[in-house]
Amino acid sequence: MNSLTNEAQHIIYIAEPVAKVEAIKKLAILWKSDASLKIGKATKPEDPSYPPKLKLCPPREMPKRGRDYSTENRIALLHALSYIEFNAMNLACDLVARFADPILPRAFYDDWVLVAEQEAEHFDLLSTRLNTFGINYGDLPAHDGLWDAARSTSHDLLARLAVVPLVLEARGLDISP
Ligand SMILES: [Fe+2]
Repeated sequence: MNSLTNEAQHIIYIAEPVAKVEAIKKLAILWKSDASLKIGKATKPEDPSYPPKLKLCPPREMPKRGRDYSTENRIALLHALSYIEFNAMNLACDLVARFADPILPRAFYDDWVLVAEQEAEHFDLLSTRLNTFGINYGDLPAHDGLWDAARSTSHDLLARLAVVPLVLEARGLDISP
């Protein structure tokens, strides 16, 4: 690993979920164990890569999810949450790579590497549960709304922090069953 920002950008482009989770875990172990690792220069990551099978569609074209606890609805909910966690891994890596700035303390990066690691764990737990229903992450469609917010806040760290984790991710926690 030549720098934290380069590795974070590289992880955004990993489409295969298991490989992405493993790369984040490896990065977190390295970052925590080697204080000499360089933060690196800010990069401008392109949009993330997704598993080829995953169909991204506008929110209004998503199939409506029922509210009862049928197997079908539970699968749809687990897939939607897995998608959110997959995005959350990308968002944490994008934040580190894009907004790296010598003015920020090393603790800022410590926190966001920890967030990426925790999101990887959440994805791992949810997708493993999904697998028990015979479904893999990518088998159902997902909507692209969360990354729209990442795109529209790519110019400004404070805008990103305000809109994505403080509003969208927090609201997601409030409205999800
Ligand atoms: Fe999460």
